Amino acid sequence: MNWTAPVAEQVLQADAQAVWHPFTPLYGLRPPLEVVRTEGAWLYTADGRQILDAISSWWVNLHGHSHPYIAQAISEQAASLAHVIFAGFTHQPAVTLAERLLRILPPNMAKIFYSDNGSTATEVAMKMAFQYFYNLEIYKPKIIAIDGAYHGDTFGAMSVGDRSPFNAPFQPYLFEAVFIPFPDQTNQEKVFQEFADIIATGQVGAFIFEPLVQGASGMRMYSASLLDKMIAHAQQHGVICIADEVMTGFGRTGKLFASLYLHHYPDIICLSKGITGGFLPLGVTACTQRIQNAYRSPELMKTFFHGHSYTANPIACAAANASLDLLLSQQCSSAIARINHSHLQFAAKLQQGSYAVRNVRVLGTILAVEIDRSGETSYFHEARNNLYYHFLDKNLLMRPLGNVVYILPPYCITNQELALAYQAILEIVE
Ligand SMILES: Cc1ncc(COP(=O)(O)O)c(C=O)c1O
Repeated sequence: MNWTAPVAEQVLQADAQAVWHPFTPLYGLRPPLEVVRTEGAWLYTADGRQILDAISSWWVNLHGHSHPYIAQAISEQAASLAHVIFAGFTHQPAVTLAERLLRILPPNMAKIFYSDNGSTATEVAMKMAFQYFYNLEIYKPKIIAIDGAYHGDTFGAMSVGDRSPFNAPFQPYLFEAVFIPFPDQTNQEKVFQEFADIIATGQVGAFIFEPLVQGASGMRMYSASLLDKMIAHAQQHGVICIADEVMTGFGRTGKLFASLYLHHYPDIICLSKGITGGFLPLGVTACTQRIQNAYRSPELMKTFFHGHSYTANPIACAAANASLDLLLSQQCSSAIARINHSHLQFAAKLQQGSYAVRNVRVLGTILAVEIDRSGETSYFHEARNNLYYHFLDKNLLMRPLGNVVYILPPYCITNQELALAYQAILEIVE
């Protein structure tokens, strides 16, 4: 068959013919923008535009696009060992990464299980927890999740996610989960009591949560001390606590992991997104030794029979090791502190002025502004598309979550670049 690569101006036409994009309605939207180059916090398009990526391209980019240090590590790794089956074989990039992650994760974490993305990281976590009880012959079939949660798009992940219009077609196929209300400033005692009552049934095996910030439901932030109390209570009753740090991991909340704000650490932690600095897909599910011990048995059927073809891909692990070098530098800590300081100043400005803002919240490098418009705060809020295109027309990539506009930038973003994003938000709320 003859095939020639489309020239630049034909790419969009060819895209419309051949490609199906994620999370993208097939009617009513403008065609996608063709990106030809990325550098730092910027995306460069085929038609000559320069767009500031204020959301780290779906929260994955940490140190800036096409960072030369990570690109170099990838190139060297690809030239020597690109991929090998990870059952019965191992390699240095995966082992080094596991050791380094265990050094910076909460100290109770003991083992690293690799997969491919955030959804598989949470899927693995739940399977690990469910089979833990199966292997120990304990019947605790229920899992608790929080209203508004998003843990990914695979079936297990959808089952513990908010039962929203997004997953309505799949609801007959989802397993049952027990949802507790999202803990806001007004209902903490009630939420804790409801949580404790469900656990008191003796049926609960696991509790899954996005620690401190629910990302997809609108960067909703909640109390670390309440979560700490919930984890302590759950663990006292033998419930496995799963922290989904797919979004919060690697410095987004100001600490390396949101779980480090707690005194009681989760039993399982899920990581992905920022792990490779935004270069390659990689998922990690970390667990305590106690969890793995339930699988240490001469009985074959107590094995964790789960894996993916690209598990622990060496190139992705090399990217993650390079990203960790950058993340653990003094320069990166200072950048995170600088972004936080800048967000706090902007939040104070919004809170003091008479702006159309219902709520402003900041945690670490995350700033979320809830625009005051009537209607519910949902992804389908009518304001969403208008806001998205308003920002894009100003060469800013921001993907509002309903009427919540947020900034979650790569750490290389400068104060001047942040100011561009703040200014665009001000124009909306003035
Ligand atoms: C908290 C959380 N968990 C899981 C996921 C799913 O990750 P992925 O898109 O890599 O499958 C996401 C994605 O946004 C997320 O925010």
